Amino acid sequence: MRTADLKNSSGQPKSRHLWWEDGTLVLLDQTRLPAEEIWLRLNTLDAVVEAIYALRVRGAPAIGIAAAYGVLVGMKEHTNLPLDEFKSHFQAVRERLFKARPTAVNLGWALGKMAGILAHFSSGNAQVLYDRLELEAFTIHSEDIELCDRIAANGASLFPPDTRIITHCNTGFLATGGVGTALGVIAAANELNGVAMVYADETRPLLQGSRLTAWECGKLGIPCRVITDSSAAYRMATETIDGVIVGADRIAANGDTANKIGTYGLAVAARAHQVPFYVAAPYSTIDVDLGKGAEIPIEQRPESEVTTFHGQPVAPQLTGAWAPAFDVTPAHLITAIITESGIFRYPYDFS
Ligand code: MRU
Repeated sequence: MRTADLKNSSGQPKSRHLWWEDGTLVLLDQTRLPAEEIWLRLNTLDAVVEAIYALRVRGAPAIGIAAAYGVLVGMKEHTNLPLDEFKSHFQAVRERLFKARPTAVNLGWALGKMAGILAHFSSGNAQVLYDRLELEAFTIHSEDIELCDRIAANGASLFPPDTRIITHCNTGFLATGGVGTALGVIAAANELNGVAMVYADETRPLLQGSRLTAWECGKLGIPCRVITDSSAAYRMATETIDGVIVGADRIAANGDTANKIGTYGLAVAARAHQVPFYVAAPYSTIDVDLGKGAEIPIEQRPESEVTTFHGQPVAPQLTGAWAPAFDVTPAHLITAIITESGIFRYPYDFS
């Protein structure tokens, strides 16, 4: 689907998996893919917070968009209040959404954009302010759709014809408003010069690679094979891999990059095999307030996500687990960071 098609009949943004309709956030429940395509209509703040925490909607840019619409869901019941009272509810709504997932910078970034509208609004009633917030959510969503295209165009030519690529987690249309970041680059490379094979790391423990990336590649007609995360180094040793490309949840000012757990190990393996390692992300993923990756807050997930599989135990009952959702890849292992504003190379200077 082309970017121009990602709109409803009123010209409002409508992604393949997420949009705003009649005061409700509509989204495809990603926890049920690929077995079932279940659509959710979220119209309470609790439901939006739960959907973000449970990864029904996931991927850093998509989380940001969902949070912007989450503000609308949380504020809509207060529109008949006087303006000051309406405004006084915002902080609690913002905090609940902000705490849902701490690593992706896009969440706080989108909530900050919504807060800016609120802070600068003084003339008009609560309904007028709510309408302005709705417009801002549409802007956040539309801009993400457009910048995905620019990231894809910037990154496509980094890959040779009939290229073989390894990717990790899911960074496609399910993770963003548009065509995706890393997977958007892969799709653009496929159109430009052809992709011979995408190796999708399955991405333990929640399998975003095997469940979602392989599903998207199927929809896009891109050849894809799933590999276990632990197979990636051996694949690099046994076949020519032209590049590894991943997304990002947050990038520190020095280029250290937080992304799905397993990314760091993949970067180490890529360096050992002289395979270029690329990160693709919106420029807003760069958190200039954080000097280095050690300062990035890393979300810890419930141990049960590691010790069980489909509700069945895969570890002895009393065994604990360490379950970070993300890791940090040091900047020196990253060949280039592809953004909508251009391609940055190590050593990173984003100014
Ligand atoms: O836990 P998830 O599935 O939200 O993690 C997603 C990732 O790590 C992605 O690589 C990242 O958010 C970039 S998505 C364009």
